[in-house]
Amino acid sequence: MDHLALDEAARAILRKNDRGGYTLPTFGLYPYQWNWDSAFAAWGFAQFDIDRAWLELTTLFTGQWPNGMLPHILFHRPDPGYFPGPDVWGTEDKGPIPSSGISQPPVAATFARMIYDKNPDAGREPLAALFPKLVAWHRWFMRWRNADGMIFITHPWEGGRDNAPDWDSAMQAIDPVGVGEYTRRDTAHVDASMRPTKEDYDRYIWLVQRARGLGWDDAAVAQDQPFKVADPLMTFVLLRANRDLAALADALGEDRSELDSWTAELTAGAAALRNDKGVFDGYNLNLGEHTNSVSNASFLCWLGGVDSPQMLAELHRAFDQCAYPVPSQKVGSDWFNAKRYWRGPTWAIVNMLIGLGLIDMGHHAEAEELRARTAALMTQHGFAEYYDPLTGDPAGGDSFTWTAAVWLAWASPSAGVQ
Ligand code: DGY
Repeated sequence: MDHLALDEAARAILRKNDRGGYTLPTFGLYPYQWNWDSAFAAWGFAQFDIDRAWLELTTLFTGQWPNGMLPHILFHRPDPGYFPGPDVWGTEDKGPIPSSGISQPPVAATFARMIYDKNPDAGREPLAALFPKLVAWHRWFMRWRNADGMIFITHPWEGGRDNAPDWDSAMQAIDPVGVGEYTRRDTAHVDASMRPTKEDYDRYIWLVQRARGLGWDDAAVAQDQPFKVADPLMTFVLLRANRDLAALADALGEDRSELDSWTAELTAGAAALRNDKGVFDGYNLNLGEHTNSVSNASFLCWLGGVDSPQMLAELHRAFDQCAYPVPSQKVGSDWFNAKRYWRGPTWAIVNMLIGLGLIDMGHHAEAEELRARTAALMTQHGFAEYYDPLTGDPAGGDSFTWTAAVWLAWASPSAGVQ
């Protein structure tokens, strides 16, 4: 297929997964509105329908809790094909619509800025309505997920990289006793070898049950959940999103001083996520230990505005090791598994975030190499959820919204941002 036909195929995926005001990540496996998926979808829609892009973000924020938390899943309509649904989360009295009780990587402000910059006239009104909600969400992170400027997560799903090795030590410390019987639905849609293990899943559900037992109280969850790991992806994403929100404050004539103070705090925190090998990785706050792994999240330093010659050398190594970088776990590490979700496969969304950061920091040759290899991956293997970094084989769900969005907005030769 030539790139114009692929552009059309990508737009068709967004339209097919569109449920009116929001877009499913993919039909079947993920039948609701997911937080960061939706922000990527908005950026995809912005390439051909700017009003639909704003609607995606506006609908996402209809699920915001009064405390500022923006849930990772909004259960707009019942769907028995998904587990764990609203009855498991038990958040009925917490937010305006049924939702999960944890958040997800805050990429929305970054895409709001990019969508606004594309067409300020069309964006002024929806942005003005969204701005205080974005600030409230960032404030929630700074208050309840902040350890000296490192953003931590209280559940692997909150970080979006469900089974990354960054969480292993915290997961191993959990004995999921009493979790009870349940039926997974994800493995009915996708081959089990590409998904988290049963041991992981027991702990995911146990952590949900435990936070529910704490009444989803912010202070109690932040203090008492046994899972507390500072996350490079969350920290770098919020750092970048905060800068973008400050730029939007300027555009709207709003005060940016609180945002600037958060940016300074997160910049200091991000430096502490560097392990003694010079790589940014997860930091288990309960053990005071780094994971010592090189994941695709490690390469988000540039997105956060932190340069690193060492990470640039790691990126060149990933280019040498894989036809289709960046692997979610370094090839050759003991954790590497080419097909299993966040333990090896390449994710186009993370590639785009890495690429945007590389451009910001002036690493244009690497940004273009990454874009071109990501484009080749999609040209040869379609719009999958994730891919084997060595062979390019598609894995996980197919007809995936955020992968199609990344094609339209970044990887395609017709994309505006490169
Ligand atoms: C899932 O259900 O696998 C999701 O990753 C949770 O957000």
